Amino acid sequence: MIITIDGPAGSGKSTVAQLVAQRLGYRYLDSGAMYRALTWQALQAGIHLCDSRALTRLLSRTRLTMRQTKVGTRWFVNGRDVTRVIRAERISQVVNDIAAVPVVRHWLHRLQRRIAQGGEVVAEGRDMGTVVFPRARWKFFLVASFPERVRRRMAQLHAQGHHVSRVSIARALKRRDARDRRRTLHPLRPAPQAIKVDSTQLAPEQTVAAILHLINPH
Ligand code: DC
Repeated sequence: MIITIDGPAGSGKSTVAQLVAQRLGYRYLDSGAMYRALTWQALQAGIHLCDSRALTRLLSRTRLTMRQTKVGTRWFVNGRDVTRVIRAERISQVVNDIAAVPVVRHWLHRLQRRIAQGGEVVAEGRDMGTVVFPRARWKFFLVASFPERVRRRMAQLHAQGHHVSRVSIARALKRRDARDRRRTLHPLRPAPQAIKVDSTQLAPEQTVAAILHLINPH
């Protein structure tokens, strides 16, 4: 069984998807981390993030792997642990450039489907329910109000010791939203059968409980 959880940045989907996976004993597939890992690698290699020829060559010598550990999922690019570095703000700012390149999306889609083989996966991202796993048993689309998403992002950055103003967080989030939704290829949108969950007023635990209840009402 595959469960997909899509939604915009700051909707809480990472926390929720991880918890749902944990409760069900499923694997957790963070597709955003994969776009981030390739962004990191392209930057390291000095490749322009829109240069699809250079990216194609880069992909041919890339091995992107994940390992599930007790304290979460770790990501490796050609054996190097990139779990932490891919969360840098610099990556968040430019990841959408690489996410718009068809060869990158197709390469990652193949890998995502391979990782999910055998089922029992909670796949989280932007196009999990619409494109990558259109036949998933359960599809959720997580939303939250814009001010709440800004508030969460701010709390997250502050917890990491970054003091960024509300205005600049709101601006960055708006920009990412626009790029996620307006992308020509596989934009962010709910799958036709997706269940919409509004987490604005909910703590992560409550959102998880709502999802688990829908999946297994008993
Ligand atoms: O979930 P995240 O914020 O870590 O994702 C980073 C970026 O990766 C997101 O802004 C767009 C891209 N992405 C995508 O295009 N498709 C996905 N399924 C997941 C992420």
